[in-house]
Amino acid sequence: EGDTIHIGFSQAMSDDDWRRSMNDAMELQASLNPNIDLTIRDANYEVQRQIEQIEAFIADSLDILIVSPIQSKPITPVVERALDAGIPVIVVDRKTENEKYTAYLGADNIEVGRNAAKKIISSNAKDSIRIVEIRGMAGSSPAEERSLGFAQIINSYKNAVIVQQIQGDWEKESIQGQFRELLQKNSKIEYVFAHNDRMIRGAWEVARDLGLESTIHFIGVDGLNSPDGGIRMVEDGMLKATVLYPTGGEEAIKLALKILNGESVPKNNILTTTIIDEVNAEIMKNQFDKINEQQEEIENQLVAIKQQEELYYSQNNLLKITMAL
Ligand code: FRU
Repeated sequence: EGDTIHIGFSQAMSDDDWRRSMNDAMELQASLNPNIDLTIRDANYEVQRQIEQIEAFIADSLDILIVSPIQSKPITPVVERALDAGIPVIVVDRKTENEKYTAYLGADNIEVGRNAAKKIISSNAKDSIRIVEIRGMAGSSPAEERSLGFAQIINSYKNAVIVQQIQGDWEKESIQGQFRELLQKNSKIEYVFAHNDRMIRGAWEVARDLGLESTIHFIGVDGLNSPDGGIRMVEDGMLKATVLYPTGGEEAIKLALKILNGESVPKNNILTTTIIDEVNAEIMKNQFDKINEQQEEIENQLVAIKQQEELYYSQNNLLKITMAL
């Protein structure tokens, strides 16, 4: 018990495929080390709940805390309290307001925005490109940073202009009404960039209802390899592209162990992002399929080891009983 490593993960929410795959990757990586005790608490997108769950983690005297903050500002003080209590903190995917954490792990979201913009600039020769940007939840760092990177590139091209921004909350329901109204007033749009694939799917559905889906190009972010994920949408021709946003679940556990080992780690641990379009969608899919197969194999092996251990213990007990008789 003295050797047990207590890792707590405060997850913003667990109700979408991206976050589920993040949790799964963490659990799998943690299960490879029998000393790790990983607890995931799901804040269900309620800020107050996330604060309380982190407080509870602090009171449990955790060895290390991993947090994906719903929004930057309100989660900043409680992350500072964890640090003050001597608990190292890794922020994953989303950051707090200041740099008071041990390390950040995730893709560079400014680059995510830039990648989306570069795709638009490079694949359209028209003299005027009108773009609608659909933003993720206000105050959550990936939304702010994706917007920043996107604007940097778009604004440096005089032919491209962001004609309107729509404020979403990462889910498609938050943007569909607004996008429908926008299209009904002005359908002369060449591109829609949404900060994630769930919202871009929502935008595409609205355009399809209005018969406009083939006149507009759609770009999202995440690039999940799931039946309704971004890679599939690119393959199906719904999206011009999506920008890969890896979850970092596996890497977060590895980074946690390094920190607990006293190794010095970079403040920013940046995961690779890249454009997924018709050129490489299939390659990406095959790569991810392979990784999934390997993960499944590892899971099966872990189950087999457990079964053998149980068999060993029960035989051992039987032996003890027999000897006692
Ligand atoms: C998942 C998600 C992703 C997005 C990320 C940003 O909950 O909404 O779609 O890329 O969070 O933090």
